[in-house]
Amino acid sequence: MENIELLKLAEKAAQNAYAPYSGFKVGAAVLCRDGSVYTGCNIENASYGASNCAERTAVFKAVSEGKKEFLKIAIMSSGRGFTFPCGICRQVLWEFMPQGDVVLGDVNGRIKVFKLKELLPEAFSL
Ligand code: THU
Repeated sequence: MENIELLKLAEKAAQNAYAPYSGFKVGAAVLCRDGSVYTGCNIENASYGASNCAERTAVFKAVSEGKKEFLKIAIMSSGRGFTFPCGICRQVLWEFMPQGDVVLGDVNGRIKVFKLKELLPEAFSL
């Protein structure tokens, strides 16, 4: 699947974001090796710390459906620039797509692509 299509799915997923505390809506779409796609949004909580990022929502949905190998993840948000995945999400992504791409889109239609490896050098693994 093309990056642009995956970004469109991420953008759509951001519409479901539950972000009453930050007002910052994020959507993510993960492309699995078998061609399937799982999307996710951020889900906040009154306790703040119990909130979940869009990326992890998408990854956890995919893994819970039996998918464990991802090729890339696309991320879109309601913010003005690109939204980079947080440190926890980078580590979670590393588990399932260490060779994968992180595709970022902004509201002006610009696209940036990084290797996850670039965003998480010297990653921890067991
Ligand atoms: N957030 C994500 O969902 N993904 C990111 O990559 C960065 C941050 C969410 C968490 C929180 O709900 C809101 O954005 C503000 O931090």
